[in-house]
Amino acid sequence: MINFKEKIAVILAETIEGLTVGEIRDMIEIPTDSKMGDYAFPCFKLAKVLRKAPPMIAQGIAEKLQENELFEKVENVNAYVNLFLSRKVFTQELVICVAADQDRYGSSTMGQNRKVIVEFSSPNIAKPFHIGHIRSTVIGNSIYKIYDFLGYDTVRINHLGDYGTQFGKMIVSYRRWGNEEDVTKEPIKTLLSYYVKFHEETEKDPSLEDEARDVFTKLENGEPEETRLWQWFRDESLKEFNRVYQMLGIEFDSFAGESFYSDKMERVVNMLKDAELLKESEGANIVDLEEYGMSPALITKKDGSSLYITRDIAAAVYRKEHYDFYKNLYIVASQQNLHFQQWIKIIGLLGFEWAKDCVHIPFGLVSLEEGTMSTRHGRVVFLEEVLTRAVNQTKEIILEKNVNTDNLDVTAKQVGIGAVIFQELSNNRIKDYVFSWEKVLNFEGETGPYVQYTHARAASVLRNGGDSTNQVIAAADKANVEYILGDSAYELAKLIYRFPEVILEAGEKYEPSVVTRHIVNIAQGFNKFYHDEHVLVANEEEKKAKLLLVYAAKQTIQNGLKLLGMEAPERM
Ligand code: ARG
Repeated sequence: MINFKEKIAVILAETIEGLTVGEIRDMIEIPTDSKMGDYAFPCFKLAKVLRKAPPMIAQGIAEKLQENELFEKVENVNAYVNLFLSRKVFTQELVICVAADQDRYGSSTMGQNRKVIVEFSSPNIAKPFHIGHIRSTVIGNSIYKIYDFLGYDTVRINHLGDYGTQFGKMIVSYRRWGNEEDVTKEPIKTLLSYYVKFHEETEKDPSLEDEARDVFTKLENGEPEETRLWQWFRDESLKEFNRVYQMLGIEFDSFAGESFYSDKMERVVNMLKDAELLKESEGANIVDLEEYGMSPALITKKDGSSLYITRDIAAAVYRKEHYDFYKNLYIVASQQNLHFQQWIKIIGLLGFEWAKDCVHIPFGLVSLEEGTMSTRHGRVVFLEEVLTRAVNQTKEIILEKNVNTDNLDVTAKQVGIGAVIFQELSNNRIKDYVFSWEKVLNFEGETGPYVQYTHARAASVLRNGGDSTNQVIAAADKANVEYILGDSAYELAKLIYRFPEVILEAGEKYEPSVVTRHIVNIAQGFNKFYHDEHVLVANEEEKKAKLLLVYAAKQTIQNGLKLLGMEAPERM
């Protein structure tokens, strides 16, 4: 697609001495009010070089550009040159491009041959996969999709919390008070209850702690019986997590979690020793980070066992060696900021220049309207329950509204789950937010159902267009775009044109909400166009041109929804 900003910069460069195309391009603005043009060029900075008053300069430039057929109109207002693109040239270019790229519209090859690791979700085995985990899962999945769309070679890793002293406790508790049947039936709830039971019982009998520690040491040493139980707990938990991933349509390339690094830690500890970074402190080993304004990082405990941070250092080293990543991204809550600052610093201190390629992508807290979540007080909301409730409520709404669907169950799932994902990705990730049922399932306002509904509406118009639709998409260059140059059509076309830039921005900022907001804008732009204009008119030429714009809007919304990890139903 033509980069219009770039093209304008080239044209301007011919009339302006002393500035490069790049410098001019960076000066070009997009006015918030389209009455001031599609693009505007401020002349203040030129005053010095040209030794003329800015308004005079603007006037001079505007006069020279009058004849250029890229522009419909060129005006100078004070020190600005306001540029109005030829709607015809612009719209024609756009619709041809979208019709050619289709589901690749907005994609790029910029990431070719560069590997990006996206680590996300990473729940803890035998602990509930609650609504707090949804953030990492949904944001991470979208960041993965965006990088994939930009042509990067992506690897999705679920760094499961499947290791640590708590497994000693769980095994002890299971042996004393547990039974196989319960675990198989309801793994997470049961295992969690063992964990709680263990803590209750240790109040009465503190020696249980030692017992648990011994059991964990056995596990670390690979004793068969302990390993078997641990493996079983892991498998059962994973079954439950996979059910949620399936509902969300999320997959991973690797489930190498914390336990995967159990035999890779010694090497890392030795590296730290060799680099003289390790300090002994009351029998434990730490890395002192005071110089960098951080508390010390505990690497091994008194009994020699490793910690969460040790496993992260080992994981990063492993990933660099195994994948040779260009970027290694971690989508993890902002509560862990210090943890990430610490270990990424340690990687740097080890002399690895790729420390700069390890990026922590934090996000804020999610709370419930009823108050914050707390595992201890039993105020956990299981993600699976949230998703199921969203689907059921959507079903009710669809029935109430008498919406016409092919398959009620499928649509309810696409819309219900999509609604939860969309709300999750609506705000800047770093903001805390309150999960609200009312907002999630609203069909109006800036919600998932609204965007999906708009998409389905556009799909229905295209279906009604029948053969004309197919013909015009197959031969977009033959469309007579004169019929789609009105104000609302043009505003819609401009939003569609911006889509590829928006994807780039979302990737650079690791911010899916940029995509979410933009597709809301496109949906609103489409609805305005649809309200202002009759699409299925008798005049075949006019109808085809309009259908082509409807198609471009629908395709772009669909591509956007896919990047958020949502479905784009054809009917609802
Ligand atoms: N399992 C951890 C938790 O639930 C998140 C793991 C984050 N990833 C990492 N590499 N530390 O808090």
